Amino acid sequence: CGIVGYVGPRPSQDILLAGLARLEYRGYDSAGVAVIDGDGSLGMRKKAGKLAMLRDSLKDAALAEGNTGIGHTRWATHGGPTDENAHPHLADDDKLALIHNGIIENFSALREELLADGVSFRSETDTEVAAALLGREYRTNGGDLQGAFRAVVNRLEGAFTLLAMHQDHPGLVVGARRNSPLVIGLGEGENFLGSDVAAFIEHTRKALAIGQDQIVSITPESVTVTDFAGTPVEAEPFDVSWDAAAAEKGGWSSFMAKEVAEQPEAVANTIRGRIQGDQVVIPELDGMDELFLGINRIIITACGTAAYSALVGKYAIEQWARIPVDVELAHEFRYRDPVIGDDTLVVSISQSGETMDTLMAVKYASERGARTLSICNTQGATIPRESDAVVYTHAGPEVAVASTKAFSAQITALLLLGLHMGRVRGTVQDASVDVAELGALPEKIAKVLESEQEHVTQLAGWMADTRSVLFLGRHVGFPIALEGALKLKEISYIHAEGFAAGELKHGPIALIEPGQPVFVLVPSPRHSALVHSKVVSNIQEIRARGARVIVVAEEGDAAVLPFADEVIRIPLAGAMFEPLLAVVPLQIFAMALATAKGLDVDQPRNLAKSVTVE
Ligand code: G6P
Repeated sequence: CGIVGYVGPRPSQDILLAGLARLEYRGYDSAGVAVIDGDGSLGMRKKAGKLAMLRDSLKDAALAEGNTGIGHTRWATHGGPTDENAHPHLADDDKLALIHNGIIENFSALREELLADGVSFRSETDTEVAAALLGREYRTNGGDLQGAFRAVVNRLEGAFTLLAMHQDHPGLVVGARRNSPLVIGLGEGENFLGSDVAAFIEHTRKALAIGQDQIVSITPESVTVTDFAGTPVEAEPFDVSWDAAAAEKGGWSSFMAKEVAEQPEAVANTIRGRIQGDQVVIPELDGMDELFLGINRIIITACGTAAYSALVGKYAIEQWARIPVDVELAHEFRYRDPVIGDDTLVVSISQSGETMDTLMAVKYASERGARTLSICNTQGATIPRESDAVVYTHAGPEVAVASTKAFSAQITALLLLGLHMGRVRGTVQDASVDVAELGALPEKIAKVLESEQEHVTQLAGWMADTRSVLFLGRHVGFPIALEGALKLKEISYIHAEGFAAGELKHGPIALIEPGQPVFVLVPSPRHSALVHSKVVSNIQEIRARGARVIVVAEEGDAAVLPFADEVIRIPLAGAMFEPLLAVVPLQIFAMALATAKGLDVDQPRNLAKSVTVE
């Protein structure tokens, strides 16, 4: 997910590698560079794994020196993290190199077209399709790289940042962006491109922002920006004020802060390409209707945060696909002789795709004859390889141990799966309202981030000495209460518990004493006046016993005001979509409280990002 481009008088390879190192914070699973040397020949090297692998390989066999180059770190989306799938991808008899971030939605149609034209492919990536398309266009248009590039970007759908160069045009790198970042660094007699300023911060502080759907060409002496039609546009200059240390995390205070902020994009990427008209159609599940028809039961299995997303999935799948769903912690599932067979679909959820408990549960389910589908954020990981089908979440790499954007993407994938299944099973006739809700999510999440960040951070600051926090929710708010408590435990080491609000009177209410902070997730009264009123009664019960009540409620819900010490607002959303909004302030709260306590938010004690032992 890192991109760097260079044109100038200096040897480009080291500049590219240093730029990629600065972009490491974005996360990646393979890396590569290409340079055009003085005689106009193109050299390329790419490797799965960390940058060190690429560096070692370049040490063993150097590329010829050249002053024009592009470099890339990849986080696998289409095709696993292998050498072949790494970028750059070559075309036009290996004279042209191209790198890409994002997802090209219409890549399979384009791939078919190119295959029919006799083009062969070396990788499984959507990127190589763009490279091949550019190669073909370049050959047919008589060698106009910029013209060919413009023609290609106009044919691509989805999200992309692309950089390309051709050995017959040394000193020229072309780039484009749609829904994916790209910035220009302005040097003296040299110019840079980067997915963010960290790529070139060592060399220049002068930068230009490239807008949505714009194309850029850089040479050592010039920078030209146009729209996709080729009409010149003015790029906006800005000064980069970061110091080098801040640049290591792209200016964010922590990976977790970055990942929380990336949730609108993560959710948008998970949805992208999976909506057709007013229906949800997950292309990876094409031809797999049988998976959802011949079953009478679904078990969702996962651990940690992923298991809480599963609980939201239970509500959604049961409502839309009208099939019973149980959620089982993976490590409990296989040690109790569960009743499963070929009429059971076992859905596993895992960010890493490597959690041993979850992997063992999937293997166990397969051995027992169940069908298996995994929801995973990491291409080519073991769990998807062991499953009959996979739906990737496309949240991008998650580095902080405490899961945030992966959780939102998991819920999103489950909602998509529920609607997909409902369509296949004939239980959802009209998904238009839900499809509209899905489409509106990224913007609503962004709104919560913007409007509540400061308020919640301040609240956490006041509560830095708190020793225990409780979280209450009903319906899909219940799993969010559990997740809110887990975030707090994980990174701020404060005792926290989540309860189903209705369970309060059966025990937990004994914990309430004056001053006890309790977060209450209030569902919209528009979904169910009854459930809403029950939650409001729960608030009154704890308030009467002196609890300090922090309410998360939709905008305009005034019923909560008389009983709340603090009100956190979220935009109006459909019942199944509220969790994606309500979880955001809880993540911010946990992060701000941990920060107020001076703790390392990204690397909490005793925890690992991926637990590969049972
Ligand atoms: C670890 C992490 C948790 C995560 C869980 C499941 O315990 O610390 O944050 O939720 O594993 O991880 P997975 O990669 O399977 O989603």
